[in-house]
Amino acid sequence: MNEEARGEAGGSGTEAADLGFPADYGSFPASVTVDGTPYWLVRGEEEEEYRLLSALCPHAGGDVRAHEGIFFCPLHFWTFDQAEGNCLNVPGERLMRRKVELREDGRLYAVGLPY
Ligand code: FES
Repeated sequence: MNEEARGEAGGSGTEAADLGFPADYGSFPASVTVDGTPYWLVRGEEEEEYRLLSALCPHAGGDVRAHEGIFFCPLHFWTFDQAEGNCLNVPGERLMRRKVELREDGRLYAVGLPY
């Protein structure tokens, strides 16, 4: 699935991007584009925990792909865990993240800035 999520104003004054309902996604990780940037939407350890992990490699910008429970970059084979985006073969490196909230309307929203 590759959806274009469009930003909209959030209640706190922080721009939030509507990612739709969790059930809209057939499986996770799910490929999404938020504010023109590609991400993987992943589920966290908790039942209603979600986050975005950048689909652009922090090494040199390769396209990060999902494969057999990990993310990997085909350019120089850095690999990343699918929960936090931590690099598995280069200590201290990780994918950029963006917080996701499951709000009372049942929809997921990307909030805040990438970090
Ligand atoms: S650009 Fe991804 S490992 Fe080098």
